[in-house]
Amino acid sequence: MRIKKDMIDLRSDTVTKPTPEMRKAMAEAEVGDDVFAEDPTVNALQEKIANLFGFEAGLFVPSGTMGNQLSVNVLTHAGDEVLIEQTGHIFNYESTAAAHLSSVLLNPQPGTKGKLSVEQLENSLRGAHEWEPQTKVVALENSTNKGGGCCYTEEELSRIQDFAEKQDLLIHLDGARIWNAMTATGTDPQFYSSIANTMSVCFSKGLGAPVGSMVLSSAERIRQAHKMRKMWGGGMRQIGILAAAADYAVENHYPLLEEDHKRARKLAETIDSCSGLSIDLDSVETNILIFDVLERSAEEAVALLEEQGVRVVPFGPKTLRATFHLQITDEDLEQAQQAFSKVFD
Ligand SMILES: Cc1ncc(COP(=O)(O)O)c(C=O)c1O
Repeated sequence: MRIKKDMIDLRSDTVTKPTPEMRKAMAEAEVGDDVFAEDPTVNALQEKIANLFGFEAGLFVPSGTMGNQLSVNVLTHAGDEVLIEQTGHIFNYESTAAAHLSSVLLNPQPGTKGKLSVEQLENSLRGAHEWEPQTKVVALENSTNKGGGCCYTEEELSRIQDFAEKQDLLIHLDGARIWNAMTATGTDPQFYSSIANTMSVCFSKGLGAPVGSMVLSSAERIRQAHKMRKMWGGGMRQIGILAAAADYAVENHYPLLEEDHKRARKLAETIDSCSGLSIDLDSVETNILIFDVLERSAEEAVALLEEQGVRVVPFGPKTLRATFHLQITDEDLEQAQQAFSKVFD
């Protein structure tokens, strides 16, 4: 068995470590007390990312979870309902935070590859009677994590936005991997502010920063989010060192995502050729592969791959996820392809 440090780690795109160049940018960052809004590097990043996506303002936050939860909080009142695709991160992986922090109900909907459609939403609205929750928000994810890295088309998003406007609903977009979605679809970043009221983006996934996400919205909603961030213990001080890493990631790593996507497709093709595995090649759009193990359990498959030096995560009793990121090279890809063929062919 290979020693741990030689492992090809495809468990998540969150496992990256800051590069020497990123660390240099962090070390050289100008900093100030961000609770006093005096950190110049944070202020510049907030303005830059808000402008990039066409929103009025942005707020740097420690995690994608806090970005999503602040968004839900500023879009709702206690007792409201948020419609979300049933595999959505906010529903599955944020520890009931929406109920706990904002007193809202998340109502999971069955979609396709993690995506919702107008047809789905049309039959799910509630609030006509006083005994029902009031549907207030539609929470979308782009690209979808548990949905296998799939992306909404601009047309799909525009249709949902038209519907939401007619029904008086607000839209939150979980853009933890919006960078991957933009890379795959070529969508102009400005488009997202035309279809979403709030959006969260992460610098700590495929972009490879060690920490950091941002909430984007109107100036008024960001003012409210700022207050809630402090209340939830997320007020930070000299975090220009983190904003510098995020800025470095956007400038230098965003253009590399295309390579991750190409490598992911190549491994998907190897998986498709393995008799012991099954993958829907049409659903491979970005850096995430979700595939089934045919004759073993996911746990057994994980252990066998680990013996060959490759780490993936179980995503169901017979389902695995492999995710490409900044620190997976062409050589790693080749070794991973050999490992998959050896174990599953
Ligand atoms: C789609 C999506 N949204 C939000 C998050 C939460 O990000 P964090 O782990 O920074 O809280 C993740 C984390 O992987 C994610 O995949």
